[in-house]
Amino acid sequence: MGMDQDIAEVLYSEKQLQRRVAELGAQISRDYEDKEDVVLVGILRGCYVFMADLSRYITIPCRMDFMSVSSYGKGTSSSGQIEIKKDLSDTINGSHVILVEDILDSGNTMDYLKKVLSVRNAASIRICTLLDKPERRTKPVAADYYGFLVPDAFVVGYGLDYAEKYRNLPYIGILKPEIYE
Ligand code: IMP
Ligand code: MG
Repeated sequence: MGMDQDIAEVLYSEKQLQRRVAELGAQISRDYEDKEDVVLVGILRGCYVFMADLSRYITIPCRMDFMSVSSYGKGTSSSGQIEIKKDLSDTINGSHVILVEDILDSGNTMDYLKKVLSVRNAASIRICTLLDKPERRTKPVAADYYGFLVPDAFVVGYGLDYAEKYRNLPYIGILKPEIYE
């Protein structure tokens, strides 16, 4: 069985995603043109598709690093309890950090990561999220770059999962509620 029948509605097609991610890459390339040591920090696992595409639309040199934090279990809302499962491989002392996230929801994850990383003497820390669900925010954290504002629905594809499935859908769609209810 394919995955398509679990999708209620396609929100962003492959084409729409590529167009928007290209714009983000171009904007980041302009904004960081004169900066030395720019590092994209991908938050695993949701970032992997977005970061692979975004990084190829960025035309300035930059390093790639990754972190993994636990936030969601099998459910569809954040536990609020964040824990680092995999830390950065390299130091960010003096670096311009761009956190690359799949979706900014409650803000728990990004609020926590910004606090944790802010004591490591980065030159700057910004957030680039593909999707932003501002209605669900409970922490005062905002995206510096975002691809799309999404309604309060559970979405999957292009890296985003439900219970570790659907990450490999090439588009972003709203998951049918009966799948997780
Ligand atoms: P936050 O800590 O509540 O902002 O949640 C951020 C994380 O929750 C993201 O990195 C996602 O892994 C997950 N998440 C939040 N909303 C969705 C969604 O609609 N689909 C898939 N994952 C989501
Ligand atoms: Mg997830």
